[in-house]
Amino acid sequence: MCGIVGILSSRPVAHDLVDALRRLEYRGYDSAGIATVEDGRLQRRRAEGKLRNLETRLLSEPLQGHIGIGHTRWATHGGPSERNAHPHMSARVSVVHNGIIENFRELKAELTAAGHVFESDTDTEAVVHLITHELGKGLGPVEAVKASLKRLRGAFALAILFAGENDMMIAARLGSPLVIGHGNGNSEMYLGSDAIALAPFTDTVTYLEEGDWAVLQRTGSVIYDRDGNAVERPPVKSQASALLVDKGNHRHFMAKEIYEQPEVISHTLAHYIDMSEGRVRIPDLGIDLASVPRVTISACGTAYYAGLVAKYWIERFARVPVEIDIASEMRYREAPLPEGGIALFVSQSGETADTLATLRYCKANGQRIAAVVNVRTSTIAREADVVLPTLAGPEIGVASTKAFTCQLTALACFAIALGRARGTIDEARERELVDALIEVPRHITDELTTEPRYEALAHTLSKSHDVLYLGRGVSFPLAMEGALKLKEISYLHAEGYAAGELKHGPIALIDENMPVIVVAPMDDLFEKTVSNMQEVAARGGKIVLISNAPDDAAGCALANHIQVPTAHVFTSPILYAVPIQLIAYHTAVVMGTDVDQPRNLAKSVTVE
Ligand code: G6P
Repeated sequence: MCGIVGILSSRPVAHDLVDALRRLEYRGYDSAGIATVEDGRLQRRRAEGKLRNLETRLLSEPLQGHIGIGHTRWATHGGPSERNAHPHMSARVSVVHNGIIENFRELKAELTAAGHVFESDTDTEAVVHLITHELGKGLGPVEAVKASLKRLRGAFALAILFAGENDMMIAARLGSPLVIGHGNGNSEMYLGSDAIALAPFTDTVTYLEEGDWAVLQRTGSVIYDRDGNAVERPPVKSQASALLVDKGNHRHFMAKEIYEQPEVISHTLAHYIDMSEGRVRIPDLGIDLASVPRVTISACGTAYYAGLVAKYWIERFARVPVEIDIASEMRYREAPLPEGGIALFVSQSGETADTLATLRYCKANGQRIAAVVNVRTSTIAREADVVLPTLAGPEIGVASTKAFTCQLTALACFAIALGRARGTIDEARERELVDALIEVPRHITDELTTEPRYEALAHTLSKSHDVLYLGRGVSFPLAMEGALKLKEISYLHAEGYAAGELKHGPIALIDENMPVIVVAPMDDLFEKTVSNMQEVAARGGKIVLISNAPDDAAGCALANHIQVPTAHVFTSPILYAVPIQLIAYHTAVVMGTDVDQPRNLAKSVTVE
C-alpha cells in the first residue's frame, strides 16, 4: 500500500511534500522519497524506513524545487530498500506510483532490449523507462505519457515530473485513488492519494475517475478520460480535515468501498504474493501443513460466505477436507475436532462474539488457530496463533463489500499455500493461479465502468417482493451473499439457493413476478446451471444472468444480462462479488433506504 503526493507552488515544496506524506503514512512506511525539478534538472532524496529518515536526509541535503512529487511506500515488487524506494527516475522523467503494473516483466524485457538500464526491482521503473522511451522518439511530455498509459496493464495511480518542465506534472488513475487539490490564488496545485493528505493546503478537491489522467500546472489542470477527451470533473469541498475518513465524491461509504476494491485487493495481494517470483507466502502456522487432517472454518454473515468459498478452493486445490459452520451454531455443537487440525476464522472486525467464542472452543480442543481479520488489533487477531490480515482499510458501510473481496483474496492465497505444501499444486500451477489473482484488480476496474447499467435493473427489482439468487459450486456462496446484501440494505426479501436444489422446493415460488438472479461463470458447471435457468424460464420467471457467457448461451430469454469479464475460473468468486454488490446498492438507493446504516443492523456484533 503506498501514498503519493504532488505539489506545484511558488515556493520550495519539499517541506509541504513531507507534511502531506505524513498524513499518508498509514498507507505504508517501508521507505519514502521526494523528487523536485531544480534549474531544469530532476533531483531526488530517498530513505529506507519511516518518513523521519527522509526528513533527516533532507536536513543535510535539502531540495529547493518549486514543483515536486513524493511517495511513502508499502513494498510490493522488490524489498524495502532505498534503491527500490520511489520516486524512480531517468535523466528525463521521475515517477511515483501506487498499485501494480501487471505487465512490467514484458515491458522491462522490451525496454532493456532497447537499451534502458533498470536500477531497481520495482514494477514502477518500467513506467519511467517507457515514458523516457517515448520522449526519445521526439514526443512532448503529454503525448509521451498518453502513449505510455496505453501500454500499461494493471491498477495504478501515478504522478510524473519531467526534467526541463518547471510548471507541469502529469497524474493518472486506474484502479487506485487520486485527487487533485486546488490551491489559493491560482498559483498552487496539489495531488494526493486522498483528500486527507491535502487537508492542510486546500479543501477544494477534484476526484479523478477511473481511467482519467490530468495535466497540472500552477494555474489549473486539464483532465482527460481514458479515450483522451478533455472532460470536466467538478471540484467539491472535502470534509477530510474534519472527518479523517470521508466519502470522496461518492454518495455513500458503501459506494466508495465498492470502488476501493481494485486498490485494497492489490494491497492484500501484495501482502501474500512475492510479485517478482510469482509465489505465495503465508506466515508460518507452526505445524506441518503437509499432514493437516482437516481445516475447520467458522464465521458469521458475509465473512461466513467468504469461508464457504474457501472450502471449495481448499478442497479442490489442496485436497484437504474442510468443515465449515456458522459460528453461532458451531460454538454449541461440541463438534469433535481432529488432532493436528487447523481452525480458520474469518472476521472483518475481529470482534464478533460468536466467532470469538468458537475460536476459543477450537483452541481449547487443540486446533491451530488462524484468523483472517481486517482489524489487526482486534481480539480475534490477538487470540489467534497466526493472523492472515486483509488490507481492506476501514470499512464504514455496514454491508460488507471490500472486506469480503479482500477475505476471498487472502483465502485464495491460503488455499494455494496449502496446496503447495501438500504437493497438489506444483510450481507452474502456483504461477498460473498467482497470475490469475494479480489480474483481479484490473478486471474489477473494468466491471466498475458498467455501473450505470445497474440503475434500470434496480428499478425493476425494487418493485418485487422476493428475489431468488441461484449459484452452483463456488458460485453458491455468492448467491447467498447476493441475497444477504439485498436483504440487508434494500429490505427486500431474498434467498440464495444452490441451483441444483431449485427443483426441491423454491421452484414452487416461481412465476412472472419473481426475479431470479443467476450467478454463473462459464466454468465446468455452467451447462448444469443452464438447465436450471430453463426450468425457471419455462415457468415465466424473470432471469437476470451474471456471467461472462454470451447472451445466447442460456438458451432462454433473459430479462437482464450482466456481463462479467472473462478471467481464470479460480478468481470468479472475487469478480462475481462486484455485480451482486452493485445490484444491492442501486436497489437500496432506489428504495431510499439508509444504505450505510440500514435499520436494525450493526457493523460489529459483539453480543450473542
Ligand atoms: C455483521 C455485519 C456483517 C458481517 C458480520 C460478521 O452482521 O453487519 O457485515 O459480515 O457481522 O462480522 P465480522 O466483523 O466478524 O466479519
